[in-house]
Amino acid sequence: MSTRSEEPLDIGRIRDEFPILERDVGDGQRVVYLDNAATSQTPDRVVDAMSDYYRGTNANVHRGIHHLSQEASLAYENAHDRLAELIGASGGREEMVFTKNTTEGLNLVAYGWGLRELEPGDEVVLTEMEHHSSLVTWQQIAKRTGADVKFIGVDEAGHLDMEHAREIIGPDTEMVSVAHVSNTLGTVNPIAELADLAHEHDSFIFADGAQAVPHHSVDVEELGVDFYAFSGHKMCGPTGIGGLYGKKDLLAAMEPFMYGGGMVRKVEFDRTTWADVPEKFEAGTPPIAEGIALAEAADYLDDVGLDRIERHERELVEYAMDRLESFDDIEIYGPPADERAGLVSFNLDGVHAHDLASIMNDHAVAIRPGDHCTQPLHDVLGTAASARASFYLYNTKDEVDELIAAIDEARELFA
Ligand SMILES: Cc1ncc(COP(=O)(O)O)c(C=O)c1O
Repeated sequence: MSTRSEEPLDIGRIRDEFPILERDVGDGQRVVYLDNAATSQTPDRVVDAMSDYYRGTNANVHRGIHHLSQEASLAYENAHDRLAELIGASGGREEMVFTKNTTEGLNLVAYGWGLRELEPGDEVVLTEMEHHSSLVTWQQIAKRTGADVKFIGVDEAGHLDMEHAREIIGPDTEMVSVAHVSNTLGTVNPIAELADLAHEHDSFIFADGAQAVPHHSVDVEELGVDFYAFSGHKMCGPTGIGGLYGKKDLLAAMEPFMYGGGMVRKVEFDRTTWADVPEKFEAGTPPIAEGIALAEAADYLDDVGLDRIERHERELVEYAMDRLESFDDIEIYGPPADERAGLVSFNLDGVHAHDLASIMNDHAVAIRPGDHCTQPLHDVLGTAASARASFYLYNTKDEVDELIAAIDEARELFA
């Protein structure tokens, strides 16, 4: 007898929860949304959680005395526990800071820890496949502190070169910061192995989970990471909210990144002491509705089942790559379908990715052209841009067929 986690998704039912997927985007054409790595769509129950909050609870948090404020505070605080639970952080809210997005999580650690701790001679190890949100942040903090940044190479098949990783992670390494899943190649990086390597050399490790948390179950404790960040808008949640996990003792010891109200314990004219985590890192009025709705998104993903979502995306990406590989004028970047997450970046010979995306748009197919915020990786790949189709739980094989039909159309137009 199959367990529920082995049952395929009921895509029809799932799509009913995302009315935007029925949107006519011109000429009576229904949108084919394959830009999920940029931002995912939001199910009704998450939208309802936001509007219910504004209709029924709206008040500032930080434990005001009145009823609404207490209710808002409780729901917002509990949301931290819920997100900690989603990614396997047993310390609950003491290990979960709400941020604006993954980028802010990276900056929080780069400023809060890096700016104070890094010195000339120290090394921060990244990978050639980092998103600009990690690469630029560490690059700039390194410039300010005199630290060096090194990059683990990517091999021909789109995997991290782990031999190179073992060469460059060493006694001077203070931080290893790695994308869990590459937003351009779809590569799933061996975070646990990198965490062991980093820790052997008394370094910290930060994993960027922007493309992981939405698509498969994550356990930060099993991975052994020190910090882990993700974005709500890529995981069926609202924009303007994300999470930063940090081990309890690390966050407790770290200095705040932003200052202001709500993050203090005692303020005098010449000194201030900080509130506990997470408040210490959440200065000012936080994104309350968004935080509460993000907890609803976590419930939604768990209700559907992240294992089932992962399996569904794997089927879609296998199908898409099978079809794309049948053309010899298409170059695909990254590892084989059974070793990647649910996205694929490619180029069609003689057609710029922007032109391709524009023709796709004429057919209501939404993909992303460009460098996907990985310019240095595109230099390594030998191209300025690529076209990326990225899948999520509500996508279908028919939509992949529409993608292929639009590519056929582009080929004819540019022949
Ligand atoms: C791997 C990766 N890291 C970080 C980010 C940045 O996410 P955000 O713009 O939500 O901060 C993205 C966004 O595409 C991403 O794919």
